[in-house]
Amino acid sequence: MRVIFYTGKGGAGKSVVSSATALTLSQMGYETLVISSDPAHTLSDALETDVHHRPTAIMEKLWAVQIDPIREARESYGVIQEYVVSLFKSKGVDEVLAYEIAALPNMTEFVSLLKLVEYVESEQYDVLVLDTVPSGDALKNIYLPTLLGATATKVIKLVAPFVNLAKVAEPIVGIPTPGREVINQDIKLLKILQKLKGIISNRTVTSLRLIANPEAFSIQNLKRTYLLANLYDINVDLAVMNKIIPEGVHDAYFREWKAAQERYIADSEAAFYPLPLKKLRLFQSEVKGLKLLTEVGQELFDGEDPAQVYYEGHAITVKEREGGLEVVVPLPSTGNYREVTEVERAGEDLSVVIATDIGEARNFIPLPAIAQLMKLDRAKLLNDALHIYFIDERWKNVKK
Ligand SMILES: Nc1ncnc2c1ncn2[C@@H]1O[C@H](COP(=O)(O)OP(=O)(O)OP(=O)(O)O)[C@@H](O)[C@H]1O
Ligand SMILES: [Mg+2]
Repeated sequence: MRVIFYTGKGGAGKSVVSSATALTLSQMGYETLVISSDPAHTLSDALETDVHHRPTAIMEKLWAVQIDPIREARESYGVIQEYVVSLFKSKGVDEVLAYEIAALPNMTEFVSLLKLVEYVESEQYDVLVLDTVPSGDALKNIYLPTLLGATATKVIKLVAPFVNLAKVAEPIVGIPTPGREVINQDIKLLKILQKLKGIISNRTVTSLRLIANPEAFSIQNLKRTYLLANLYDINVDLAVMNKIIPEGVHDAYFREWKAAQERYIADSEAAFYPLPLKKLRLFQSEVKGLKLLTEVGQELFDGEDPAQVYYEGHAITVKEREGGLEVVVPLPSTGNYREVTEVERAGEDLSVVIATDIGEARNFIPLPAIAQLMKLDRAKLLNDALHIYFIDERWKNVKK
């Protein structure tokens, strides 16, 4: 069983690459389901077939599903939502606003993730390919279940028997207490979340794949995703650089674009090192329909098995040390690095200049949120890796 997520900013090519991957997999004999929760129906566009909210057969061994998150949320978790609304209302919040608040942020992506468990458990598919929504925050929903401990379930099980008792106290306490139905749904939700955690954190089952276009913003955005995935222990196995102007194009009009793209591709080889980086050319038209998707699949995978785990390991590691933090970033071994000549903060990132045999190389390294609270100490090179140290001054104060 394999679960493959594609992520990247809006328009990077997630729907195209997910569909092409799924198509290639089905052609190789894998029973494949491609899942989208994007309300814009991009899967229907790419596959040129109406995709429904239940798995729709596209061709032999290929299925697609367009999750309708609002319907899912209402059908499966409506009771919880009603309860949350009643809570807000009891506090004097206007009903319209209460529903607005109760609709969890990123509900869309979240509900589709819960649905994932159902498809895994159905054992009908060999590979699930997920075409995620563009918001970077949506990824937090993928991480969220991996942070969940067993505690929550225990707490709810403990509380459940007292629900009826609590109902008696309701007029006294003044806020509605959850009914048995809500508790049952809560327990069900937590169980699903735990299963989801099991699936996502299994590094031989789940892979996150990054899709970027050769442009600054697209790459920087993904570097952060890459860092966070490492932080939350989700295996990232592949990066795809999409929409590269092909070599055969010599039109003077595109000269600068081509030069810039080359630079960004070189940057991303370093930024996503040691992930394999696949390149996909900009096609002559939008990529729609099975014929073009088959071509994309061939160019991307070139006969390889897209279900393989392309890379398994931790790229960036963040270690808590006494009184601070150490961030370790591996560098491509081809660099002939000499020393770190400059290190400073640049917004949420760190700008590091490294002297090499052929001149200076500047790297922008995304930092985990906790590092923003700490003092930058130093950066040094050790065995082809950059080690960055932070001092937690709060800790120093406590020690004193
Ligand atoms: N290599 C390519 N060559 C030509 N057109 C492409 C290529 N990759 C993607 N496209 C086109 O770019 C547009 C955006 O691609 P796609 O819908 O796959 O992106 P996305 O990341 O899913 O976007 P969104 O974030 O909106 O869901 C589509 O019109 C698609 O056909
Ligand atoms: Mg899309």
